[in-house]
Amino acid sequence: MEDKLIHGFSKLSKEQKLKIISDNLVDDTGFLTELNSLNHRNPEVQLLLEQFSENTLGNFPLPYGVAPNFVINGKYYTVPMVTEESSVVAAASSAARFWSGNGGFHATVKGTTKVGQIHFCWTGNSAALKNSLDELKIYLEGNSRHLTRKMTERGGGIRDIEFLDLTDLLDHYYQLRIGFETADSMGANFINSVLEEMSSLMKIFYSRIFESGEQKDELEIIMSILSNYTPDCVVECFVEAPISSLETPEGLSGEEFARKFKMAVDIASVDPFRAVTHNKGIFNGIDAVVLATANDFRAVEAAGHAYASRNGKYSSLSRVELRDDVFRMSLELPIAVGTVGGLTSLHPMAKWSFEILGKPNASELMMIIASAGLASNFSAVRSLITHGIQKGHMKMHLGNILSVLGADAQERAKAVEYFENHSVSHYEVEQYLNKQRGIQ
Ligand code: MEV
Repeated sequence: MEDKLIHGFSKLSKEQKLKIISDNLVDDTGFLTELNSLNHRNPEVQLLLEQFSENTLGNFPLPYGVAPNFVINGKYYTVPMVTEESSVVAAASSAARFWSGNGGFHATVKGTTKVGQIHFCWTGNSAALKNSLDELKIYLEGNSRHLTRKMTERGGGIRDIEFLDLTDLLDHYYQLRIGFETADSMGANFINSVLEEMSSLMKIFYSRIFESGEQKDELEIIMSILSNYTPDCVVECFVEAPISSLETPEGLSGEEFARKFKMAVDIASVDPFRAVTHNKGIFNGIDAVVLATANDFRAVEAAGHAYASRNGKYSSLSRVELRDDVFRMSLELPIAVGTVGGLTSLHPMAKWSFEILGKPNASELMMIIASAGLASNFSAVRSLITHGIQKGHMKMHLGNILSVLGADAQERAKAVEYFENHSVSHYEVEQYLNKQRGIQ
């Protein structure tokens, strides 16, 4: 077989990397021009971004927008959002505006504890292991203090160390599950450093037992890593309004709207196929703010979807209750994010996101993100049960279609006016432009 491996790629200069990639393209027209343009060659920005990742050839721009008029716990916010999907920012803004007239979003952080795990095997006497645990915990906490001292001063640190005997699941498998508070940082590096230190300490601790007696090689550390499942780092947020105030321009009365809306959310509670799309609509808002603040959206997504399955079946993360004349929509999910550390102060735009948000702490940011999720969810379901999503979505998408078809400013302006009253599809827009351009 032909050896197609590229050897030593990471050691090459950017020019050499670009050449290799460009030489392998079927059509490289414009590739080098694009990647050598200022979009990718601003020296200051490049210097920074190239520290974040490896083998960087250029940048991948995404729109940075804001959704104004979020009222959360009585305070006004303009929420920065990074997303490539049309309608997401418009939908969040529209819901924020709507709820600002109804008391806004009410959010509470229910906990901020994160979890780290040391997974290990113990092949010796399990009673001996269990008998050593109290001493082990004191030893681990005491000897990792050089790593936890600063975090403790900031109000964080180790909260508890739990021992789990999981030998009924896997032979010889045990775990230390450690609770951490990480103040305003997301805490991944802190947690992982402490865990790795603790696993080294465990080896030292048990080697003393091995040395002194008949037991040998009982302990094998398998891995030490934080868990991105954070069911104790949870935020809840809700909106509520009198049902009678919810009548829609499409002609639904407040009662009809509330009943249909609740049914749509209940469907997502019982049907996983619908629940995934419903929750995706929530993450449209959540991910956009997580990205704009340079937090880890994969971690937030993974935890959120696991939480959606916490009762044994994947289900909606949001709920609707109708009580007396009140419509109440709530969302509860884990969100582990930071406002210090990581890329939060390094990313050129994240810094400004925090300024725009008024420099929130991590708990406040959790509440802002959850509100953006609930706003997105509200808008999506409101559209679905009234006029559907395609009307608004395709209107927003019109700009993308016009770009693909190379429309100039004048053609764009005319097209936007024309499609106010006509349905948008790629075919329709192409036909329309061809006619304008005199092409049959
Ligand atoms: C599209 O990005 C998101 C929606 O599909 C969410 C939903 O169906 O609830 C509109």
